[in-house]
Amino acid sequence: MKKWILGSLAALSLIALTACGSATEDTSLKKIENKGKIVVAMNPEFAPFEFKTLVNGKDTIVGADVEIAKEIGKELGVKVEFSSMSFNNVLSSVQSGKADIGISGISATKERQKVYDFSETYYESKNVVIVKKSEVDQYKTTTALKGQSVATQKGSIQETIAKEQLKGANMVSLVQNGEMINELKAGKVNGVVLEKPIAEGYVAKNDDLAIASIDLKSGDSDAYAVAMPKGSTALKKKIDKVIKKLKASGKIDTFVKEAYDLSIAE
Ligand code: ARG
Repeated sequence: MKKWILGSLAALSLIALTACGSATEDTSLKKIENKGKIVVAMNPEFAPFEFKTLVNGKDTIVGADVEIAKEIGKELGVKVEFSSMSFNNVLSSVQSGKADIGISGISATKERQKVYDFSETYYESKNVVIVKKSEVDQYKTTTALKGQSVATQKGSIQETIAKEQLKGANMVSLVQNGEMINELKAGKVNGVVLEKPIAEGYVAKNDDLAIASIDLKSGDSDAYAVAMPKGSTALKKKIDKVIKKLKASGKIDTFVKEAYDLSIAE
């Protein structure tokens, strides 16, 4: 009798253990392979990384991040679908499973690493302040914008960088980068904080804007990486392989350069 009870207890705990095992099983890669496609969340108004342009008369999302996504699709043998949204929704859509990954110039900060898995980083960029060209001599230090309005993109790390470093400035958080630039041109804000390659693109296309010589510090984990749901070990391995190869061959820099030229040519 006792033996029988012990035996069934052992069997029960075995079942319980197996159940636990499958609950935490890493399906990150299998899920995508089974679907035959990978859904990539991005905010395509961030040239040269992702932006919209006309290709053969059709509105198309292009840019360095798009090229990286395509390489990932090739490696996994699946189709790539881009899901465009505002930047403050990119990470949450990866968490909710609406998108499989996020590639959107996302800085892999320590805070975000607590919630998401990140690939190897693929790009490092500095933060700069865009101002009106006519006022560029007025704004040379981090305290020069005191009492003035400074815009940053909602949900971006620039919100924190501006708040912490441009002491005394009034922070304006806007959903769209284009909106920030328009507010600056209209004189409604006095500065816009963006990462350098993005800022350079806007300045190249707007004669009335310039990059101020204000020196902003970057965090040590602000480089861009691909965001995945926590626990995506198998998927991360594949994506890291792609990123490593693209970095080693200098392809990432080529993607950025080509996309930049295309973005300012339009
Ligand atoms: N690197 C910054 C961040 O992660 C800004 C990224 C904004 N990206 C975009 N596609 N609008 O917060």
